[in-house]
Amino acid sequence: MELFLLSLVLFAGYTNMVAAVTAPTMQLNDGNKIPILALGTYSGTGEVMRQTVNRAVEVGYRHIDTAALYQNEADIGKGIDDVIKKGLVKRGDLFITTKLWNDKHARDQVVPALRESLARLGLDYVDLYLIHSPASENPDGSPANIDILETWKGMEEAKQLGLAKSIGVSNFDVEQVKRIIDNSQIKPAVNQIEVHATYTQEPLVSAMQKLGVAVMAYSPFGFLVNRGESSAPPPQTDDPILTKIAQKYGKSTPQVILRYLIDRGTIPIPKSTNKDRLQQNINVFDFSLTPEEVATINKFDVNRSVFS
Ligand SMILES: NC(=O)c1ccc[n+]([C@@H]2O[C@H](COP(=O)([O-])OP(=O)(O)OC[C@H]3O[C@@H](n4cnc5c(N)ncnc54)[C@H](OP(=O)(O)O)[C@@H]3O)[C@@H](O)[C@H]2O)c1
Repeated sequence: MELFLLSLVLFAGYTNMVAAVTAPTMQLNDGNKIPILALGTYSGTGEVMRQTVNRAVEVGYRHIDTAALYQNEADIGKGIDDVIKKGLVKRGDLFITTKLWNDKHARDQVVPALRESLARLGLDYVDLYLIHSPASENPDGSPANIDILETWKGMEEAKQLGLAKSIGVSNFDVEQVKRIIDNSQIKPAVNQIEVHATYTQEPLVSAMQKLGVAVMAYSPFGFLVNRGESSAPPPQTDDPILTKIAQKYGKSTPQVILRYLIDRGTIPIPKSTNKDRLQQNINVFDFSLTPEEVATINKFDVNRSVFS
């Protein structure tokens, strides 16, 4: 009888549990490991962001992407503190990425800017620190024309101080990345760029992969989600080609798009603050697309950014 009651309690506990799915990791060129899917956080702030971090970690996310620009590092930091205090994870289980904004590109501004991000996040180190963009700006937004090699020296100092385990760039082209590699001590570990079905960025993605620089794919859903355009290019969520692939695997079309990016060797950063979509977006590690399916999705490419 006692055993029967115990089983019932365990079963009831089990049915309330969220099935957590954790992303596999990829080795970066500096030897550190990065989870191959990250939670995007742009435009989420306040209590919503704190709760999103709690829910995301509960369902298995271990990699969170933020930036000084997003003004949500403090909210994310509260979420991280919650999940550690709840005993869901230890700091070492998480991979936190943040970014240096354009108005802090002078070499001696980099480490202080990272220390400010760390204070907001409530952390001693980030796992990955990125130069958000190659374009430097003065505080008034006018171009500052600071050489990216100068900024990179500041990034190297951040890594040497242990404040960032890995360092990288975002929105850099091939020439800019090669210039850093040819003139610096430490290679960028990552280039975070926009990649999705209508903007496959094949030459840039393969050039990075040949250079050993991991690609994080931002805005992974492209025009699959509403970007406020009446004449958005395909694919949308009900696209017949994507729907057919999704039905084959018992997945949704957004899940197919995330898997497509993973099967191209990139690290997608889907953003959601919705409980169900958060869970859906990480549930992409029990299937993979064939090379033919990847090639089919590549055909949606019209070289069209969601930001142009
Ligand atoms: N380095 C850079 O310059 C840069 C630039 C842009 C973005 N990023 C990073 O990349 C992240 C993602 O990019 P993004 O925010 O532009 O776009 P995204 O992740 O491609 O799309 C986010 C949108 O899709 C919706 N969504 C999420 N999951 C869905 C699903 N399964 N089905 C249907 N709709 C879904 C979200 O709404 P709900 O929240 O309601 O689910 C939200 O409206 C950013 O948050 C940021 O971390 C970096």
